[in-house]
Amino acid sequence: MNEQEIIRKLKQLLPEKRFRHTIGVAEAAQQMAERLNADTRKVRIAALLHDCSRYMTGEEMVVFLSSRSMDMDELSVVSGTSLLHASVSAVLAKEEYGIDDPDILSAVECHTLGKKDMNLMDKIIFVSDYIEPGRDFEGVEALRNLVITDLDQAVIQSVNSTVRHLLNENRLIHPKLLDIRNGILYEKTIKTISD
Ligand SMILES: [Fe+2]
Ligand SMILES: [Fe+2]
Repeated sequence: MNEQEIIRKLKQLLPEKRFRHTIGVAEAAQQMAERLNADTRKVRIAALLHDCSRYMTGEEMVVFLSSRSMDMDELSVVSGTSLLHASVSAVLAKEEYGIDDPDILSAVECHTLGKKDMNLMDKIIFVSDYIEPGRDFEGVEALRNLVITDLDQAVIQSVNSTVRHLLNENRLIHPKLLDIRNGILYEKTIKTISD
């Protein structure tokens, strides 16, 4: 499917607010990709598809992933759509939108919890989800500026803001989310020591 076909399909399937968010993420991701010399076409496709399953319920997502024998950890199942949608979106990207590029599928799959050794495109999609034009939370402007100077630090700040939010709401925190934060900080620490 080309970009226009993807957009048309998403407009039919996604709730209006989610569709607007999706277009915002694609804009933010494109800008970031241009500045950081990433593949803008691939980045835009990944951004458009990152939330493509967000019309399904949590139960539907569990059934969907089970039917494809995909692993789901208990925390993700309990958290429902908020954590399951990344995996479901990656599968839909492949099955419904004909995407088989591993970079695009990876960026979609890890946009919520991250993963070990995220590449440039993974990070661009991860952070774009936070800074798209429709987002309005304390610190979002600082985060938008940080993206220009230090993408890794922007990933950490994005995780920090989610963790703070989850702590305030007394909600479950998936340990994988801390892994990416710790992974980047660990690398920075090692680098500082060896410099
Ligand atoms: Fe998402
Ligand atoms: Fe999103």
